[in-house]
Amino acid sequence: MKYEILARKWRPQSFSEIVGQKYIVRALKNSISSLRIHQSWIFYGSRGTGKTSLARILTKSLNCKFIKTGNPCKICSSCMEIQKGNFIDLIEIDAASRTRIEDIKEILENMQYSPSKGIYKVYLIDEVHMLSNHSFNALLKILEEPPKHVKFILATTIIKKVPDTIISRCLCFNLKKINKKEIYQHLKKVLRHEKIEYEKNGLKIISDKAEGSIRDALSIVEQTISMGNEKIFTADVLNIFGMLKKKNIISIIKNIFLKKTEKLFQCIKKIDSLNVDWEELLNEMIILVHHIAIIKNFNNSKKNFMHMNTENQKKIEEISNYCHIDKIQLYYKILIIGKKELKLAPNPKIGIEMIFFRLLDLN
Ligand SMILES: Nc1ncnc2c1ncn2[C@@H]1O[C@H](COP(=O)(O)OP(=O)(O)O)[C@@H](O)[C@H]1O
Ligand SMILES: [Mg+2]
Ligand SMILES: [Zn+2]
Repeated sequence: MKYEILARKWRPQSFSEIVGQKYIVRALKNSISSLRIHQSWIFYGSRGTGKTSLARILTKSLNCKFIKTGNPCKICSSCMEIQKGNFIDLIEIDAASRTRIEDIKEILENMQYSPSKGIYKVYLIDEVHMLSNHSFNALLKILEEPPKHVKFILATTIIKKVPDTIISRCLCFNLKKINKKEIYQHLKKVLRHEKIEYEKNGLKIISDKAEGSIRDALSIVEQTISMGNEKIFTADVLNIFGMLKKKNIISIIKNIFLKKTEKLFQCIKKIDSLNVDWEELLNEMIILVHHIAIIKNFNNSKKNFMHMNTENQKKIEEISNYCHIDKIQLYYKILIIGKKELKLAPNPKIGIEMIFFRLLDLN
Protein backbone atom coordinates (compact mmCIF):
# COMPACT_ATOMS: atom_id res chain seq x y z
CA MET A 1 0.00 0.00 0.00
CA LYS A 2 1.21 3.49 -0.80
CA TYR A 3 2.42 5.33 2.27
CA GLU A 4 0.86 8.70 2.89
CA ILE A 5 2.39 11.11 5.37
CA LEU A 6 0.24 11.84 8.40
CA ALA A 7 -0.31 15.53 7.64
CA ARG A 8 -1.81 14.64 4.28
CA LYS A 9 -3.70 11.61 5.41
CA TRP A 10 -5.30 13.69 8.14
CA ARG A 11 -6.30 16.68 6.04
CA PRO A 12 -9.72 17.74 7.32
CA GLN A 13 -12.40 16.94 4.75
CA SER A 14 -15.33 18.81 6.27
CA PHE A 15 -15.85 21.79 8.56
CA SER A 16 -16.45 19.58 11.58
CA GLU A 17 -12.96 18.08 11.23
CA ILE A 18 -11.22 21.46 11.46
CA VAL A 19 -9.51 21.95 14.83
CA GLY A 20 -9.93 25.47 16.24
CA GLN A 21 -10.93 28.36 13.93
CA LYS A 22 -14.45 28.12 15.36
CA TYR A 23 -15.53 31.60 14.38
CA ILE A 24 -14.37 31.23 10.79
CA VAL A 25 -16.03 27.84 10.40
CA ARG A 26 -19.28 29.20 11.75
CA ALA A 27 -19.21 32.25 9.47
CA LEU A 28 -18.49 30.14 6.37
CA LYS A 29 -21.19 27.60 7.15
CA ASN A 30 -23.74 30.29 7.83
CA SER A 31 -23.06 32.13 4.64
CA ILE A 32 -23.38 28.94 2.60
CA SER A 33 -26.56 27.76 4.26
CA SER A 34 -28.20 31.17 4.04
CA LEU A 35 -27.05 31.52 0.44
CA ARG A 36 -25.37 34.81 1.14
CA ILE A 37 -22.33 33.79 -0.80
CA HIS A 38 -19.48 36.19 -1.30
CA GLN A 39 -17.44 36.33 -4.48
CA SER A 40 -14.00 36.12 -2.96
CA TRP A 41 -12.33 35.17 0.28
CA ILE A 42 -8.86 35.52 1.68
CA PHE A 43 -7.51 33.20 4.38
CA TYR A 44 -4.39 34.39 6.14
CA GLY A 45 -2.34 33.27 9.11
CA SER A 46 0.72 31.24 9.99
CA ARG A 47 1.65 27.90 8.44
CA GLY A 48 -0.18 24.69 9.17
CA THR A 49 -3.29 26.25 10.67
CA GLY A 50 -5.79 25.13 8.04
CA LYS A 51 -5.80 27.69 5.21
CA THR A 52 -5.56 25.26 2.30
CA SER A 53 -7.78 22.76 4.07
CA LEU A 54 -10.51 25.35 4.67
CA ALA A 55 -10.25 26.61 1.11
CA ARG A 56 -10.85 23.10 -0.23
CA ILE A 57 -13.74 22.48 2.15
CA LEU A 58 -15.30 25.76 1.11
CA THR A 59 -14.92 24.69 -2.52
CA LYS A 60 -16.73 21.48 -1.66
CA SER A 61 -19.54 23.41 0.01
CA LEU A 62 -19.90 25.63 -3.03
CA ASN A 63 -20.13 22.67 -5.38
CA CYS A 64 -21.67 19.91 -3.27
CA LYS A 65 -24.81 18.29 -4.65
CA PHE A 66 -26.27 17.40 -1.27
CA ILE A 67 -25.20 20.30 0.88
CA LYS A 68 -26.70 20.26 4.36
CA THR A 69 -26.60 23.26 6.71
CA GLY A 70 -23.42 24.49 5.05
CA ASN A 71 -21.60 21.15 5.38
CA PRO A 72 -20.43 19.32 2.27
CA CYS A 73 -21.72 15.72 2.02
CA LYS A 74 -18.26 14.21 1.30
CA ILE A 75 -19.81 11.49 -0.93
CA CYS A 76 -21.18 13.18 -4.05
CA SER A 77 -18.98 13.19 -7.15
CA SER A 78 -17.90 16.82 -6.61
CA CYS A 79 -16.89 16.24 -2.99
CA MET A 80 -15.05 13.03 -3.87
CA GLU A 81 -13.20 14.60 -6.77
CA ILE A 82 -12.17 17.63 -4.73
CA GLN A 83 -10.84 15.29 -2.05
CA LYS A 84 -8.85 13.32 -4.61
CA GLY A 85 -7.56 16.50 -6.20
CA ASN A 86 -9.02 15.94 -9.66
CA PHE A 87 -12.07 18.19 -9.69
CA ILE A 88 -11.96 20.02 -12.98
CA ASP A 89 -13.64 23.22 -11.72
CA LEU A 90 -11.19 23.77 -8.89
CA ILE A 91 -8.21 25.58 -10.32
CA GLU A 92 -5.40 25.63 -7.78
CA ILE A 93 -2.64 28.10 -8.47
CA ASP A 94 0.59 28.16 -6.55
CA ALA A 95 1.45 31.84 -6.72
CA ALA A 96 4.93 31.08 -5.42
CA SER A 97 5.82 29.32 -8.66
CA ARG A 98 3.60 31.27 -11.05
CA THR A 99 4.25 34.89 -10.23
CA ARG A 100 4.47 36.29 -13.76
CA ILE A 101 1.69 38.23 -15.45
CA GLU A 102 1.71 35.77 -18.39
CA ASP A 103 0.95 32.94 -15.99
CA ILE A 104 -1.98 34.72 -14.43
CA LYS A 105 -3.36 35.82 -17.80
CA GLU A 106 -3.17 32.30 -19.13
CA ILE A 107 -4.93 30.92 -16.08
CA LEU A 108 -7.68 33.49 -16.14
CA GLU A 109 -8.30 33.29 -19.88
CA ASN A 110 -10.69 30.39 -19.56
CA MET A 111 -12.61 32.03 -16.79
CA GLN A 112 -15.60 33.16 -18.83
CA TYR A 113 -16.54 29.59 -19.74
CA SER A 114 -19.10 27.97 -17.46
CA PRO A 115 -18.00 25.30 -15.01
CA SER A 116 -17.78 21.85 -16.62
CA LYS A 117 -19.24 19.79 -13.81
CA GLY A 118 -19.73 21.89 -10.74
CA ILE A 119 -21.85 24.88 -9.82
CA TYR A 120 -18.93 27.28 -9.52
CA LYS A 121 -15.47 27.51 -10.96
CA VAL A 122 -13.22 28.11 -7.98
CA TYR A 123 -9.81 29.74 -8.32
CA LEU A 124 -7.70 28.92 -5.29
CA ILE A 125 -4.57 31.05 -5.28
CA ASP A 126 -2.16 29.88 -2.61
CA GLU A 127 0.69 32.05 -1.29
CA VAL A 128 -0.96 34.93 -3.13
CA HIS A 129 1.49 37.46 -1.65
CA MET A 130 4.12 36.14 -4.10
CA LEU A 131 2.40 37.53 -7.18
CA SER A 132 4.16 40.31 -9.08
CA ASN A 133 2.65 43.79 -9.21
CA HIS A 134 1.42 43.28 -12.75
CA SER A 135 -0.22 40.05 -11.72
CA PHE A 136 -1.93 41.73 -8.80
CA ASN A 137 -3.29 44.38 -11.15
CA ALA A 138 -4.65 41.80 -13.54
CA LEU A 139 -6.25 39.98 -10.62
CA LEU A 140 -7.71 43.19 -9.25
CA LYS A 141 -9.60 43.88 -12.46
CA ILE A 142 -11.17 40.47 -12.37
CA LEU A 143 -11.96 40.61 -8.68
CA GLU A 144 -13.90 43.77 -9.37
CA GLU A 145 -16.35 42.12 -11.72
CA PRO A 146 -15.93 38.39 -11.98
CA PRO A 147 -18.43 36.27 -13.92
CA LYS A 148 -21.27 34.99 -11.72
CA HIS A 149 -20.06 31.39 -11.89
CA VAL A 150 -16.56 32.23 -10.60
CA LYS A 151 -15.33 32.30 -7.00
CA PHE A 152 -11.91 33.25 -5.70
CA ILE A 153 -10.23 31.92 -2.60
CA LEU A 154 -6.87 33.44 -1.78
CA ALA A 155 -4.51 32.18 0.90
CA THR A 156 -1.36 33.69 2.33
CA THR A 157 1.00 33.53 5.25
CA ILE A 158 1.99 37.20 4.77
CA ILE A 159 -1.09 39.38 4.51
CA LYS A 160 1.02 42.55 4.69
CA LYS A 161 2.38 41.83 1.24
CA VAL A 162 -1.07 41.71 -0.33
CA PRO A 163 -2.22 45.09 -1.68
CA ASP A 164 -5.09 46.74 0.20
CA THR A 165 -7.04 47.02 -3.02
CA ILE A 166 -7.14 43.23 -3.24
CA ILE A 167 -7.92 42.76 0.44
CA SER A 168 -10.83 45.17 0.35
CA ARG A 169 -12.54 43.10 -2.32
CA CYS A 170 -12.43 39.92 -0.27
CA LEU A 171 -13.99 38.59 2.87
CA CYS A 172 -10.95 38.30 5.13
CA PHE A 173 -10.39 35.57 7.68
CA ASN A 174 -7.45 35.48 10.04
CA LEU A 175 -6.59 31.89 10.99
CA LYS A 176 -5.30 31.72 14.52
CA LYS A 177 -2.49 29.52 15.74
CA ILE A 178 -3.92 26.40 17.32
CA ASN A 179 -3.39 26.27 21.06
CA LYS A 180 -1.27 23.47 22.48
CA LYS A 181 -4.10 21.75 24.29
CA GLU A 182 -6.08 21.46 21.07
CA ILE A 183 -3.01 20.19 19.25
CA TYR A 184 -2.45 17.62 22.01
CA GLN A 185 -6.06 16.39 21.79
CA HIS A 186 -5.79 16.18 18.02
CA LEU A 187 -2.53 14.21 18.14
CA LYS A 188 -4.07 11.82 20.65
CA LYS A 189 -6.97 11.20 18.30
CA VAL A 190 -4.70 10.65 15.30
CA LEU A 191 -2.44 8.23 17.20
CA ARG A 192 -5.39 6.28 18.56
CA HIS A 193 -6.67 5.75 15.01
CA GLU A 194 -3.21 4.92 13.74
CA LYS A 195 -2.75 2.47 16.63
CA ILE A 196 0.49 4.06 17.69
CA GLU A 197 1.47 4.15 21.33
CA TYR A 198 2.95 7.21 22.96
CA GLU A 199 4.33 8.58 26.20
CA LYS A 200 2.16 11.47 27.34
CA ASN A 201 5.00 13.83 28.15
CA GLY A 202 6.59 13.34 24.77
CA LEU A 203 3.32 14.19 23.08
CA LYS A 204 2.87 17.28 25.25
CA ILE A 205 6.30 18.54 24.32
CA ILE A 206 5.51 18.05 20.64
CA SER A 207 2.23 19.97 21.05
CA ASP A 208 4.15 22.80 22.61
CA LYS A 209 7.04 22.85 20.16
CA ALA A 210 4.76 22.87 17.13
CA GLU A 211 4.10 26.55 17.90
CA GLY A 212 0.48 26.49 16.86
CA SER A 213 0.93 24.54 13.64
CA ILE A 214 -0.86 21.21 13.32
CA ARG A 215 1.18 20.35 10.26
CA ASP A 216 4.40 20.82 12.21
CA ALA A 217 3.04 18.76 15.09
CA LEU A 218 2.19 15.87 12.77
CA SER A 219 5.60 16.07 11.07
CA ILE A 220 7.39 15.88 14.40
CA VAL A 221 5.20 12.93 15.39
CA GLU A 222 6.22 11.21 12.18
CA GLN A 223 9.89 11.90 12.78
CA THR A 224 9.64 10.55 16.32
CA ILE A 225 7.86 7.40 15.24
CA SER A 226 10.63 6.66 12.77
CA MET A 227 13.18 6.92 15.59
CA GLY A 228 11.31 4.94 18.20
CA ASN A 229 10.18 1.72 16.55
CA GLU A 230 6.55 2.69 16.06
CA LYS A 231 6.18 4.30 19.46
CA ILE A 232 6.60 7.87 20.65
CA PHE A 233 9.12 7.97 23.47
CA THR A 234 9.70 11.16 25.44
CA ALA A 235 13.44 10.57 25.28
CA ASP A 236 13.34 10.65 21.46
CA VAL A 237 11.31 13.84 21.46
CA LEU A 238 13.80 15.47 23.82
CA ASN A 239 16.56 14.31 21.53
CA ILE A 240 15.00 15.85 18.45
CA PHE A 241 14.84 19.23 20.14
CA GLY A 242 18.18 18.92 21.93
CA MET A 243 16.32 19.21 25.23
CA LEU A 244 17.24 17.89 28.65
CA LYS A 245 14.86 16.03 30.92
CA LYS A 246 12.89 18.30 33.21
CA LYS A 247 14.45 16.72 36.29
CA ASN A 248 17.93 17.66 35.03
CA ILE A 249 16.93 21.27 34.56
CA ILE A 250 15.47 21.27 38.05
CA SER A 251 18.70 19.98 39.55
CA ILE A 252 20.73 22.63 37.69
CA ILE A 253 18.57 25.37 39.19
CA LYS A 254 18.76 23.73 42.60
CA ASN A 255 22.58 23.69 42.44
CA ILE A 256 22.53 27.37 41.54
CA PHE A 257 20.21 28.31 44.38
CA LEU A 258 22.26 26.31 46.87
CA LYS A 259 25.53 27.56 45.40
CA LYS A 260 26.84 24.07 44.75
CA THR A 261 29.45 25.18 42.24
CA GLU A 262 31.28 21.84 41.94
CA LYS A 263 28.11 19.90 41.26
CA LEU A 264 26.86 22.49 38.81
CA PHE A 265 30.01 22.25 36.72
CA GLN A 266 29.83 18.49 36.71
CA CYS A 267 26.35 18.91 35.23
CA ILE A 268 27.67 21.19 32.50
CA LYS A 269 30.37 18.70 31.63
CA LYS A 270 27.81 15.96 31.31
CA ILE A 271 25.49 18.10 29.20
CA ASP A 272 28.37 19.00 26.92
CA SER A 273 28.83 15.34 26.07
CA LEU A 274 25.14 14.94 25.26
CA ASN A 275 24.69 17.10 22.19
CA VAL A 276 22.19 19.36 23.92
CA ASP A 277 21.07 22.66 22.44
CA TRP A 278 22.42 25.22 24.93
CA GLU A 279 19.98 27.94 24.00
CA GLU A 280 17.19 25.46 24.55
CA LEU A 281 18.65 24.77 28.00
CA LEU A 282 18.48 28.49 28.83
CA ASN A 283 14.90 28.55 27.56
CA GLU A 284 13.96 25.70 29.84
CA MET A 285 15.62 27.43 32.77
CA ILE A 286 13.68 30.62 32.01
CA ILE A 287 10.44 28.65 31.97
CA LEU A 288 11.34 27.13 35.34
CA VAL A 289 12.13 30.52 36.84
CA HIS A 290 8.73 31.66 35.63
CA HIS A 291 7.09 28.68 37.36
CA ILE A 292 8.91 29.56 40.54
CA ALA A 293 7.73 33.16 40.24
CA ILE A 294 4.16 31.90 40.01
CA ILE A 295 4.60 29.66 43.03
CA LYS A 296 6.08 32.55 44.99
CA ASN A 297 3.41 35.03 44.02
CA PHE A 298 0.35 32.86 44.46
CA ASN A 299 -0.19 31.16 47.78
CA ASN A 300 -2.30 28.51 46.19
CA SER A 301 0.08 27.83 43.33
CA LYS A 302 -1.40 27.24 39.92
CA LYS A 303 -0.64 23.58 39.56
CA ASN A 304 -1.50 22.78 36.01
CA PHE A 305 1.96 23.25 34.56
CA MET A 306 2.16 21.94 31.04
CA HIS A 307 4.27 18.82 30.50
CA MET A 308 5.24 18.29 34.09
CA ASN A 309 4.50 15.30 36.29
CA THR A 310 3.61 15.61 39.96
CA GLU A 311 7.04 14.43 41.04
CA ASN A 312 8.77 17.26 39.20
CA GLN A 313 6.15 19.70 40.36
CA LYS A 314 6.88 18.79 43.98
CA LYS A 315 10.60 19.25 43.37
CA ILE A 316 10.03 22.71 41.95
CA GLU A 317 7.90 23.72 44.89
CA GLU A 318 10.68 22.49 47.15
CA ILE A 319 13.49 24.37 45.39
CA SER A 320 11.38 27.52 45.24
CA ASN A 321 11.91 27.65 49.01
CA TYR A 322 15.63 28.21 48.46
CA CYS A 323 15.05 31.31 46.38
CA HIS A 324 14.12 34.71 47.73
CA ILE A 325 11.23 36.37 45.96
CA ASP A 326 13.25 39.57 45.41
CA LYS A 327 15.83 37.70 43.35
CA ILE A 328 13.53 36.06 40.85
CA GLN A 329 13.53 38.99 38.46
CA LEU A 330 17.32 39.07 38.54
CA TYR A 331 17.61 35.37 37.71
CA TYR A 332 15.19 35.91 34.89
CA LYS A 333 17.06 38.89 33.55
CA ILE A 334 20.46 37.19 33.62
CA LEU A 335 19.05 34.21 31.74
CA ILE A 336 17.29 36.33 29.13
CA ILE A 337 20.33 38.50 28.52
CA GLY A 338 22.53 35.42 28.61
CA LYS A 339 20.44 33.87 25.86
CA LYS A 340 20.92 36.95 23.73
CA GLU A 341 24.66 37.04 24.30
CA LEU A 342 25.30 33.32 23.99
CA LYS A 343 26.20 33.57 20.31
CA LEU A 344 28.90 36.14 21.08
CA ALA A 345 30.85 33.71 23.26
CA PRO A 346 33.80 31.87 21.65
CA ASN A 347 31.83 28.68 22.17
CA PRO A 348 28.50 27.94 23.86
CA LYS A 349 30.05 26.08 26.79
CA ILE A 350 32.10 29.13 27.78
CA GLY A 351 29.00 31.29 27.36
CA ILE A 352 26.93 29.03 29.60
CA GLU A 353 29.63 28.82 32.27
CA MET A 354 29.88 32.60 32.48
CA ILE A 355 26.10 32.92 32.73
CA PHE A 356 26.11 30.35 35.53
CA PHE A 357 28.84 32.28 37.39
CA ARG A 358 26.69 35.36 37.16
CA LEU A 359 23.72 33.46 38.59
CA LEU A 360 25.88 32.04 41.40
CA ASP A 361 26.99 35.57 42.31
CA LEU A 362 23.41 36.43 43.16
CA ASN A 363 23.40 34.27 46.27
N1 LIG B 1 -7.16 23.58 11.77
C1 LIG B 1 -6.73 22.35 11.47
N2 LIG B 1 -7.44 21.27 11.86
C2 LIG B 1 -7.03 20.00 11.58
N3 LIG B 1 -5.89 19.74 10.88
C3 LIG B 1 -5.14 20.78 10.48
C4 LIG B 1 -5.52 22.13 10.73
N4 LIG B 1 -4.58 22.94 10.21
C5 LIG B 1 -3.66 22.15 9.65
N5 LIG B 1 -3.98 20.84 9.80
C6 LIG B 1 -3.14 19.70 9.37
O1 LIG B 1 -2.01 20.21 8.66
C7 LIG B 1 -2.07 19.87 7.28
C8 LIG B 1 -1.77 21.09 6.44
O2 LIG B 1 -2.79 22.04 6.65
P1 LIG B 1 -3.08 23.22 5.63
O3 LIG B 1 -4.55 23.48 5.63
O4 LIG B 1 -2.45 22.91 4.30
O5 LIG B 1 -2.30 24.41 6.33
P2 LIG B 1 -1.91 25.84 5.78
O6 LIG B 1 -2.47 25.96 4.40
O7 LIG B 1 -2.50 26.81 6.75
O8 LIG B 1 -0.40 25.87 5.81
C9 LIG B 1 -3.45 19.32 7.05
O9 LIG B 1 -3.44 18.32 6.05
C10 LIG B 1 -3.84 18.77 8.40
O10 LIG B 1 -3.29 17.48 8.58
MG1 LIG C 1 -1.39 26.01 2.56
ZN1 LIG D 1 -21.05 16.61 -1.73
